[in-house]
Amino acid sequence: AAASPEPLKRVLVTGGAGYIGSHIVLTLQETRKYKVVSVDNYHNSFPAALTRLNEIAQAALPENATNQEKDSAAVDSHTCDLTNPAQVRAVFEKYGKGGIWGVIHVAAYKSVGESTEVPLTYYLNNVSATVCLLQTMSEFDCVRFVYSSSATVYGTPPIIPIPESTRLKADSPYGKSKIMSETIIQDLCQAEPDRWRAISLRYFNPAGAHPSGLIGEDPRGRPGNLLPLLAHMAVGRVKDPKLRVFGDDYPTPDGTCVRDYLHVMDLAKGHLLALEALAPDSKVFDSCSDPARYKAYNLGKGKGMSVLQIVEAMRNATGYDYKCEVVGRRRGDVPDLTADPALAEAELGFKAPQNLETMCRDLWNWQQKNPDGYGAE
Ligand code: WQD
Repeated sequence: AAASPEPLKRVLVTGGAGYIGSHIVLTLQETRKYKVVSVDNYHNSFPAALTRLNEIAQAALPENATNQEKDSAAVDSHTCDLTNPAQVRAVFEKYGKGGIWGVIHVAAYKSVGESTEVPLTYYLNNVSATVCLLQTMSEFDCVRFVYSSSATVYGTPPIIPIPESTRLKADSPYGKSKIMSETIIQDLCQAEPDRWRAISLRYFNPAGAHPSGLIGEDPRGRPGNLLPLLAHMAVGRVKDPKLRVFGDDYPTPDGTCVRDYLHVMDLAKGHLLALEALAPDSKVFDSCSDPARYKAYNLGKGKGMSVLQIVEAMRNATGYDYKCEVVGRRRGDVPDLTADPALAEAELGFKAPQNLETMCRDLWNWQQKNPDGYGAE
């Protein structure tokens, strides 16, 4: 008889209904090695995303799927405010001590601009929630942690492409909340080097959607980010006659800001690789100079694209004839955030092979199939 398969490892994904979280959940489900638990406060996401995730995962199961395989395709979801210790504890109590193998913490508020208006909201939801989560994890012997960080921690980087050794210096409460959380996690790993293992992943600019078009980016209200805004314009959800380009006087090839866009499915795969790097037999921490089992990695393609290049790529993908109007710079924007992806490639085996054309094609496929996003459900 075939060797009985390893029992599923239960993994908690915070923000599991969100844009990044849902693509991570699906990537975990597709391995059939994990039992995924999602917690979300639905502040910027919809429960319908989880229903779609299960649909995709169950449709991919073989006819004679085992109960364990069926289990891997059914996400446990909880509505949970991570700033509320009692609610976080209730989730862990459901699975008991050691019941959750690891946590991928994606849930956070993420608007640079909004964070300058309501800093306390950002520090509460992004920093206090992380402390509360780590405390509860420790209590339940769950000590494997993948943290969603951001290229924003580099502020205006001194060199491009940006290596992880770059000094951290954020200018917005959002970026500072990411640096604070990374520092907190590192201190925890310093305090208990034989217990905790943690990896922070510094995202550059995720874009696109799962090729099925069943899940995708669906921010509540008007999108702040460039690509979802361009998709909303093309589908008629935003009536702006022109795209406002926030400045074309930057020291970049065409004067508009350069960013490192990577496909959200490649980004999600990076989380799976990071999770696997936390396993006991992993060599990732062998190169650590100090005893703490903590590392940070960039997740990017290492290829910068300007605002105007993105608009052109979306014009080609959607057939929509975007008009642009150059206006003043947006506060908090920096000229260029392009990753040096070498460390994640070398140590995690991370790759972001999908190109901009594929990102735009998959984004448009999602948006055309769901003109009103999940909201229609
Ligand atoms: C991209 C470029 C804008 C809208 C942000 C966060 C970052 C991360 C990803 C969480 C910029 C320009 C945009 C528009 C424009 N979030 N733009 N007109 O700012 O690189 O990153 O989202 O981790 O932390 O800062 O992404 O898509 O907002 O902007 O000209 O209407 O498009 O100026 O140069 P950004 P973005």
